[in-house]
Amino acid sequence: MKMKALIVYGTRYGATAGTSEEIAKVLRDEGFDVNVVNAKKEKVNAISEYELIIVGSGMKIGKWTKEPENFLKQFKHELVKKNVAIFISSAIRAIFEYEGNTEEMEEMWKKYLVEKAEKYSLNPIDMAIFGGVFPYDDMGWMTKKTVGQLWRKFEEAGFEKKNGTYDTRDWTAIRTWTKKLAKKTRT
Ligand SMILES: Cc1cc2nc3c(=O)[nH]c(=O)nc-3n(C[C@H](O)[C@H](O)[C@H](O)COP(=O)(O)O)c2cc1C
Repeated sequence: MKMKALIVYGTRYGATAGTSEEIAKVLRDEGFDVNVVNAKKEKVNAISEYELIIVGSGMKIGKWTKEPENFLKQFKHELVKKNVAIFISSAIRAIFEYEGNTEEMEEMWKKYLVEKAEKYSLNPIDMAIFGGVFPYDDMGWMTKKTVGQLWRKFEEAGFEKKNGTYDTRDWTAIRTWTKKLAKKTRT
């Protein structure tokens, strides 16, 4: 019998969707049966059949998308008995990494992951901060004037704008993390 995995995600700009699909692909290669749910479009009714549950969200102004968080809230009591992993997508982390700003990186880890796990009494088998997208060309003028100014930093850090966006995702890191989860779930 194949082990079953569920990936529940929320996204605003698409990065977490792509990351979730890649995680699903790796898990399928590892022999799992995988169900990927975009929490904004679909509701999960039960989780009893899954051995591994991964919950992911994109970040905006320090906030998760609300749907994956609602999922954590709804299944909080069942999730404590499962192999759970959580991740977030953040384009901005790449800038902190480039600048060697470990203080901000630690703060992100704490605020975006540790505190979220604590809020729902979760004991995740792993957590991760993956890269994200910075959709500069699609931003309205107000956003361009404020957070949009970070485009210079992305350039400085060596990212190129492609199709109007900066994409900081590290696919190798995503795949390596997923393989680790598969191993932890099997043992
Ligand atoms: C208006 C705006 C605000 C953002 N705020 C944050 C933030 O507070 N923290 C962060 O780490 N990333 C922030 N980002 C970058 C996002 O993490 C990045 O766009 C990521 O891809 C979001 O995930 P998603 O594409 O799945 O929605 C912001 C991006 C935009 C455009």
